[in-house]
Amino acid sequence: MATTTKQLQKLNRDDVTKHNKDGDLWVVIDSKVYDLTRFKNLHPGGAAVLLDDDIGQTATDAFYGLHRHEVLQRPQYQRLQVGYIDGETPSLIGRVDGQLSKVPYAEPTWLAEGYHSPYYKESHRKLQQAVRQFHDEVIYSDAQAREEDGKRPSLDVIQKMAEVNLHAMRAGPGKHLKGLTLMGGIVKPEEFDYFHELVIHQEISRCGTRGYGDGLQAGAIIGLPPVLNFGSPELKARVAPEVLSGKKFICLAISEAFAGSDVMGLKTTAKKTGDGKHWIINGTKKWITNGHFADYFTVGCKTEDGFTVILTSQIKTSYSPAAGTAYVTFDNAKVPVGNTLGPEGGGIFVILSNFNHERWVMATSSARAQRTIVEECLKWISQRKAFGKPLASQAVIRSKVAAMIARVESVQSWLENITHQMNNMSYKDQAKHLAGPIALLKMYATQSAQETARDAVQIFGGRGITRTGMGRFIEHVSNRSMLVPWCNRLTEATQSITVP
Ligand SMILES: Cc1cc2nc3c(=O)[nH]c(=O)nc-3n(C[C@H](O)[C@H](O)[C@H](O)COP(=O)(O)OP(=O)(O)OC[C@H]3O[C@@H](n4cnc5c(N)ncnc54)[C@H](O)[C@@H]3O)c2cc1C
Ligand code: HEM
Repeated sequence: MATTTKQLQKLNRDDVTKHNKDGDLWVVIDSKVYDLTRFKNLHPGGAAVLLDDDIGQTATDAFYGLHRHEVLQRPQYQRLQVGYIDGETPSLIGRVDGQLSKVPYAEPTWLAEGYHSPYYKESHRKLQQAVRQFHDEVIYSDAQAREEDGKRPSLDVIQKMAEVNLHAMRAGPGKHLKGLTLMGGIVKPEEFDYFHELVIHQEISRCGTRGYGDGLQAGAIIGLPPVLNFGSPELKARVAPEVLSGKKFICLAISEAFAGSDVMGLKTTAKKTGDGKHWIINGTKKWITNGHFADYFTVGCKTEDGFTVILTSQIKTSYSPAAGTAYVTFDNAKVPVGNTLGPEGGGIFVILSNFNHERWVMATSSARAQRTIVEECLKWISQRKAFGKPLASQAVIRSKVAAMIARVESVQSWLENITHQMNNMSYKDQAKHLAGPIALLKMYATQSAQETARDAVQIFGGRGITRTGMGRFIEHVSNRSMLVPWCNRLTEATQSITVP
């Protein structure tokens, strides 16, 4: 069907003043003229506010003090525009798919104009552009819709990610990438490093919806590496392609109702059958990300020799928001002995070495989530006026935002330093040298995220706890993601330091 593009009128401000009545109501918002005559009765903020005597000329300030710019980018509201003011240009630029933000500090310095970095090469920059485009076009809208309805991420998104091998890249550098075309060939499998992986995690974190982000195969990011690093060749050949192609799902099941921080305290048991061919697993696991829809479970168990990590297939789970977080019960689950990851009794090394990559991933996402808060706050404090001037002119507010910026820049710089170390160490050396630094980084990243989220709620006032409109993102990060108990990792950090 052919679509017609509405011809916009070239107007001046006097023309607009003539349309200032209930049955004929025009307003100017950032140089664009909108006809609100019919919309006024549907306006979520009510009709009365639009009938203010001065609204024709003062709508820009009123609008931006109350709405997100994206409101005007929604097709149903774009249609309200009838013209533009001759000689004026819009001063606010909305989010444009695939592009960098123009808000100061909204991007890490390596992406900012005029800045330099020793860490990122051409392939990192190209990958960043491609993943941003992919995120903005494929992931973003699904993230908002699924976070709202609480369903798991759409399988269509999972499939599209598989087509460009995003699942494989999110599991980190390694042999599992061999022969794959990564993001249309932007980076060669043998060149793929931890900075490429960092770029992907940070771009995908921009969806701003924590539970959805976890639903998007976070289980594979933490549950597949033990299979890749410690599984038998047959197990790897069977499980990895299924998971990386988005056809099957895997998760990591370590924590229990009985033991979280204290991994050595876990109670799930694995006992060999008389013929020595199978494990029989009994016990429970709690908070298992993606467990609700996982086909495979990487499970930490107690055996006669100590701890052993075993890969099981689908089992009974409960709970299911977007991340598919599950309570898992094993009731005489029978698993072939060939599914053992690493040596029997040596599971604690499998578990602890795997935590390093997991914690590093969390620090990458946390750094990016904090940056999005900074961007939201900077936009809000320049839009919102109180006591006759923008919030940005209040010293207390400026000081809070300055502290947020300092925190996010220090997290990102430390993260990049550690990523550089990871790029230059074997998996074993990473476990030996980086367990402490990564745990400290994660502790600092998540604690500073909490401080930033708390200050953002303060800066947004009542909107900081309102799920719709201006504070939508701030409400989400502060109430539903930053305050999850990540801070307990303080204990991990201090326990990982030993003085000779
Ligand atoms: C959203 C979410 C997703 C998760 N996904 C997974 C997953 O996919 N797989 C998985 O295996 N687990 C998962 N977990 C579990 C997570 O790893 C545990 O919640 C975490 O290890 C803490 O364990 P706990 O909740 O039992 O707290 P506890 O260990 O009971 O700790 C309670 C409090 O005591 C503090 N504490 C503990 N020990 C000490 C100490 N020695 N000194 C001082 N303070 C101490 C802690 O810091 C914490 O604040 C997830 C958790 C959450 C919230
Ligand atoms: C094209 C013009 C406008 C459109 C499309 C529009 C749309 C909306 C929408 C969608 C909301 C719901 C909250 C949100 O999503 O942000 C809203 C709320 C509101 N609008 Fe508008 N609006 C327009 C102009 C204005 C103007 C000029 C005013 C001036 C006073 C105004 C005052 C309000 C108020 C007071 C609220 C309630 C805000 C809150 O709950 O915090 N709107 N508007």
